[in-house]
Amino acid sequence: MASRKILVTGGAGFIGANFVRYTLQERDDWQIVNLDALTYAGNLLNLKDIPVDQQKRHHFVHGDIRDKKLLADLFSRHNFNGVIHFAAESHVDRSITGPMAFVDTNVGGTCELLRAGLAHWQKRKEDAAFRFHHVSTDEVYGSLGEEGSFSEDSPYDPSSPYSASKAASDHFVRAYHRTYGLPVVITNCSNNYGPYQFPEKLIPLMILNVVELQPLPVYGQGKNVRDWLYVLDHCQALLRVFEQGEPGQTYNIGGGQESANIDIVRKICAMVDNRLGRAPGTSEELITFVKDRPGHDFRYAINAAKISRELNWQPAYTFDSALRNTVDWYLNNMEWVKAIRTGEYRNWLELNYKQR
Ligand code: NAD
Ligand code: DAU
Repeated sequence: MASRKILVTGGAGFIGANFVRYTLQERDDWQIVNLDALTYAGNLLNLKDIPVDQQKRHHFVHGDIRDKKLLADLFSRHNFNGVIHFAAESHVDRSITGPMAFVDTNVGGTCELLRAGLAHWQKRKEDAAFRFHHVSTDEVYGSLGEEGSFSEDSPYDPSSPYSASKAASDHFVRAYHRTYGLPVVITNCSNNYGPYQFPEKLIPLMILNVVELQPLPVYGQGKNVRDWLYVLDHCQALLRVFEQGEPGQTYNIGGGQESANIDIVRKICAMVDNRLGRAPGTSEELITFVKDRPGHDFRYAINAAKISRELNWQPAYTFDSALRNTVDWYLNNMEWVKAIRTGEYRNWLELNYKQR
């Protein structure tokens, strides 16, 4: 495997940080330049446990993907062999109350990165392995009924400002391939869960509310279904696509583990009650059905046959055991949770992290 230097954007967020750690470990001669604006969702504590011997291959840059000058500077200083683009506003509920941030970063920021990436690649077309990898979502396909699943050929039909912004960015990425030949790959994945997820998303929010005996807000009747993907399975799939994916192609990535929200919340209640030695059934009483999310997609399910067939990838984790790992991770990392709750994580850059 040739050594590489790659630009990762959004590598202080949930999936990005898991990917940075995973890749430094799996590819021991790769260098990662990690560009992240450290929004509310970006947290350098997510990268704190990179082993010391790997830290010298990780270079954090505090900056914004919308900053043209910074991008030009980074691409001129580093001979990147590829870009893996995670940086985004990622939370559907926030997109409903404040859509413009999603347009700015997810559409505008992606376009700035494409422009800089294209200029870089045009000077070094001899690098056949160069890829611009856009990390996207199954939400671009809209909602399913009780049956069926999303394939790479499913039509785009986004419901929320978040998914509309990701759909727009996918279209720009594809357009850069068709128009300029930029060797792009796009992955559209289902709902991730696992360590370091910001506690606004369903699974970590419910775990922490159960721990703290707070109400568990379930939207509508809790019957909406998601296809759950453990973040480490996702990281493995991303690296596979980045290294072996065909330029211009899209790959859907899913966990193959569908579950209704209410069933997940009940599982979390049982797992946390068990871990904390509470009587069975204690936390279920906290379940509170609340007003539904506007435009709430009913069901997502991924047909992952293409990545399985072409790149020989299948998820390795099962939902119940990986959910248990996740519950344990939050219970064992209450300092991380506390730093988020108090806002202390925002000072981590100044206090503890030297820019290299
Ligand atoms: P996240 O919200 O946890 O992290 C996003 C990261 O991007 C943060 O570190 C943030 O600081 C950074 N960022 C935001 N705006 C930026 C900007 N303008 N410039 C530079 N950095 C910026 O998100 P996540 O859940 O890790 O998702 C990562 C990617 O995967 C996103 O593109 C998201 O759309 C996609 N995705 C997520 C899921 C999921 O279940 N979480 C599923 C499918 C696709
Ligand atoms: O499908 C991939 C997408 O999954 C990603 O592209 C998004 O970045 C990611 O945020 C996630 O979107 P969802 O809207 O599916 O995730 P969220 O965790 O917000 O909600 C999951 C389900 O749980 C959804 O049906 C809404 C419901 N929910 C969520 C919250 C936060 C509740 O019932 N109560 C809640 O408090």
